Amino acid sequence: GKQAFINNLIKKMTLEEKIGQLNLLTSEMDVTGPFMNAGYKKDIEEGRCGSIFNAYTPQYTRQLQDLAMKTRLKIPLLFGYDVIHGHKTIFPIPLGEACTWDLALMEKSARIAAVEASADGLHWTYSPMVDIARDPRWGRVAEGVGEDTWYGVQVAKAKVKGYQGTNLSLNNTILACVKHFALYGAVEAGRDYNTVDMGRQKMYEYYLPPYKAAVDAGVASVMSSFNEIDGIPATANKWLMTDLLRKQWGFKGFVVTDYTAINEMMAHGIGDEYKVGELALKAGIDMDMQGSVYTRQLAKLIADKKLSIAQVDTCVYRILSAKYDLGLFKDPYLYCDNSRPAKEILTPESRATAREIGARSIVLLKNQDELLPLKKAAKIALIGPLADSKRDMIGNWSAAGDYTKSVTLLEGIKQKLGGAGNVTYLRGAHYTSDTTLLKRALQKAVLTAEDTANSAGMLADAVALAQKSDIVVLALGESSGMSGEAASRSDISIPENQEKLLRAVYATGKPVVLVLMNGRPLTLEWEDAHIPAIVETWFLGTEAGNSIADVLFGDYNPAGKLTMTFPRSVGQVPIYYNHKNTGRPEDPNNKYSTKYLDITNEPLYPFGYGLSYTKFTYGPVQLDKTQLKAAATGSVKVSVAVTNSGNYDGEEVVQLYIRDKVASVTRPVKELRNFKKISLKKGENQTVTFELTVNDLKFYNSDLKYVAEPGDFSVFVGGNSRDTKSADFTLVP
Ligand code: IFM
Repeated sequence: GKQAFINNLIKKMTLEEKIGQLNLLTSEMDVTGPFMNAGYKKDIEEGRCGSIFNAYTPQYTRQLQDLAMKTRLKIPLLFGYDVIHGHKTIFPIPLGEACTWDLALMEKSARIAAVEASADGLHWTYSPMVDIARDPRWGRVAEGVGEDTWYGVQVAKAKVKGYQGTNLSLNNTILACVKHFALYGAVEAGRDYNTVDMGRQKMYEYYLPPYKAAVDAGVASVMSSFNEIDGIPATANKWLMTDLLRKQWGFKGFVVTDYTAINEMMAHGIGDEYKVGELALKAGIDMDMQGSVYTRQLAKLIADKKLSIAQVDTCVYRILSAKYDLGLFKDPYLYCDNSRPAKEILTPESRATAREIGARSIVLLKNQDELLPLKKAAKIALIGPLADSKRDMIGNWSAAGDYTKSVTLLEGIKQKLGGAGNVTYLRGAHYTSDTTLLKRALQKAVLTAEDTANSAGMLADAVALAQKSDIVVLALGESSGMSGEAASRSDISIPENQEKLLRAVYATGKPVVLVLMNGRPLTLEWEDAHIPAIVETWFLGTEAGNSIADVLFGDYNPAGKLTMTFPRSVGQVPIYYNHKNTGRPEDPNNKYSTKYLDITNEPLYPFGYGLSYTKFTYGPVQLDKTQLKAAATGSVKVSVAVTNSGNYDGEEVVQLYIRDKVASVTRPVKELRNFKKISLKKGENQTVTFELTVNDLKFYNSDLKYVAEPGDFSVFVGGNSRDTKSADFTLVP
């Protein structure tokens, strides 16, 4: 069996070969950090490197695998890569895709990503990223599914299942890696790589469950985060990596660091390289990504008796075990089939799925007087730096994505209208006039004159075009480099020169549809007050332009719902729907209540919010009983009649929230506990029923026990977290 095979192999390994298995190096194809080992081929040949990332294609991985096959023990290499929202067929950024509230589709996009990645020689993806985030300044919110824990748990499970399938030894499944363990979404001030400080109850209740869900779903690997936890960096945190992850949660896979995370602990100030190497291994870190600290320090640490060979063997075992599960010991070239890419990558079916998911990720934020859907006969002015930018469509972290294959909004509209359409495009403005910001955002990309150079006539030409048209579609927001890793912003509004363009076009009096593209919630108070139609499209991937055109012209009626709150002002951040009540809830008539002097606490668009071209009305919330026994396995049946009372067929995400009114630790004002996505024809009515069990009422008490406490509860049902109807019941002992 596996155990005997690996133990036998470990017995044959020299210490140097063992340390080599713990070493992960980047290939020269791409770099995501500041450090790079140029001699990695030699490291492979000499058994000093067991895994490679940023190398793909069956030809290239075969070439590297050949080197590993020349080593004494012929241990196959493992190939990893950041396949975050698709490999070659790029799907919406995860924050956008989350707005579909369609778990089956989210699993499907991960499955397609795994098929494409594996066809391209890859074994392992650094996904899913499940960091709960309440601060839209943090650029990495684009890669997660937003602020809600319960929802994050569901998506984490779906993604692991999609990537890993049911049998890892098939060559179209890949290892998943849940990241960034742990709490990375809570970095102070929304600044990447920053400090985290959080109490245990908050960790257990709100931040840890999605990682645990991935572990429960059988995720093969875990990536350590850059932040500290209780003053100890995650990568040296034994409580986190061993006591919690392995002993409490029973994780059996391997832990890899984030990029040079062991080295960076020197800057954190917890020791020199020798010391941080010791701390990382003792904490439970198996694989060192790109830092080579293990390579340089482990032999010495063992000679000095700071670490034992047995401790190293444990790490080696876990990594060899993953290679074994993939079937690489049977056939190291299992994923190196040259014939696969042409058949399995960017297929028409995958592109069709990307288009469908794209349309379903779109959130209609405003649609005054039913300005949308657009009429095909209208004379349309399409304006904005994001209207015809292929590069931006695939968003950040689309590592192997080929932006030349993406469909822009201009192309999507033209295709939709066929030869008959009347659409004229002008850029109108650059992303931002702040060239420092743009340069910092696009550091690795080439800046073109279009991105930066200002030409005086742009705005005037755009206004003139608007005046000649029936309707203006403005595609504005962030360039794709303005969110993602190392892309935090202190100001999350539409950059000023695009805003100037928006206001100038608005002043023409022509009806304006604002199509937003961005990787985070933006502050849109002025826009919401003035612009009649606002459509949030994130970065939708390879098929972006087609997905948006499907929605704009009504071929798909939008049903996306936000999974992250849109604040009115960056001053409200952190902002999230499941906040506590406090001792002095907001009261506009009481100065001494929890509030701002200048604005309300209420967000602009709450969690769960999103409109449709049709209208849904909710009946009262009905319960089949008002008492539930804590000891019983039964449930309360919660029913609501939902009617499509508008003019189109449509889909609605019916959301169920609870509130525990009195408990031993304070509870949020609302917590999502379930949802159902339904489809109703115009005029149709459906009773939606949920079953609420005792398990749904549980929380972590101050002893960190997961309990349901008898007492009064409210249950809320509605189309977003703000506009709900409610009923009460009691949990009795
Ligand atoms: O997977 C990523 C991680 O999310 C951020 N740092 C680099 C890693 C590898 O590219």
